[in-house]
Formats: sequence, structure tokens, C-alpha cells
Amino acid sequence: MVLSGNDKTNVKGVFSKIGGHAEEYGAEALERMFATYPQTKTYFPHFDVAPGSAQVKAHGKKVAAALVEAANHIDDIATALSKLSDLHAQKLRVDPVNFKLLGQCFLVVVAIHNPSVLTPEVHASLDKFLCAVGNVLTAKYR
Ligand code: HEM
Repeated sequence: MVLSGNDKTNVKGVFSKIGGHAEEYGAEALERMFATYPQTKTYFPHFDVAPGSAQVKAHGKKVAAALVEAANHIDDIATALSKLSDLHAQKLRVDPVNFKLLGQCFLVVVAIHNPSVLTPEVHASLDKFLCAVGNVLTAKYR
């Protein structure tokens, strides 16, 4: 998934507009993922996955921070998320299909809270970015 210069600008623009809300968006995206695609809950048997749970909120913060990190290092997402890539591919062994689901949920959350930000062009750029993050996190299966 190659991001053009324009995609990169659009993605950075989205994150700068989201600002401090990224953390709550991360939690909301997880809530949506668990509700809409309940099979994803199988990776979190040790979590209270009820909406609003402290664990989901805390995890949402971590996921959002990783996305911000990726956006800040958009020219080298693989290096920026290298440790997370080891974790997801080698330890957690999350099926790659699930990254599309979480990415989709994050996009929906951004859209709901910022309808004017998510023009079709920005939507396409953010989708590419989330796919690129998913590709990095699933790159190290062996
Ligand atoms: C852990 C990010 C997708 C399952 C984590 C952590 C981060 C993260 C930052 C915490 C790592 C740590 O504590 O050191 C992301 C990002 C994703 C993504 C940015 C894609 C945008 C997924 C998906 C699943 C998943 C799709 C499964 C449906 C897990 C699990 C943990 C984890 C089970 C360990 C939770 C725990 O025990 O605390 N992820 N993740 N992740 N992730 Fe992901």
C-alpha cells in the first residue's frame, strides 16, 4: 500500500484535527469492533470487553498512541511499529483479517465525530494509512 504525498498530508491533517481526542476514538473503535464483529473478542478473553470498561478505555489509548506514532513516522511505519509488529505477528498471532475490521471501525469513529474532515479524498487516504498499519503489524508471521 503506497501512500502518495497527498495521502500523507491528508493523514497528518486528520490526526492534527483529532488532536487530544485520539485516545477516546481508540476506545470507541474497539467498542465498535467488539460489538460489530464479536469474533474479535476471542483475542481478548482476559479483558472486560463491555462498552465503557476501564480495560477497553486503557487499551484504546494504547492503540491510538500507536496510530499517532505511525502518522508521525508515516515515511517509515515499519520501523516506528516494529515492536508492535513482533507482538501481533509472533506472539498474539492475530489473523490479518481483523486489522481491516479495526481499521474500518476507527474510520467510522473519525467520520462520526468529524463529518466535515472526512471528505471522500481524505477517507481514501486514511483507509490506505490504516491498511498500511495493518500490513506492518501482520508482516512478521512465520
Ligand atoms: C496489544 C496496537 C490491531 C489484538 C496492542 C498494543 C497496542 C496495539 C499498542 C499494546 C502493546 C503493549 O502493551 O506493549 C494495535 C494497532 C492495531 C491493532 C495500532 C491496528 C490498527 C489489533 C487487532 C487485534 C489486536 C485487530 C485483534 C482483533 C491485540 C491484543 C493485544 C494487543 C490481544 C494484547 C492486549 C493485552 O493483553 O493487553 N495492540 N493493535 N490488535 N492487540 Fe493490538
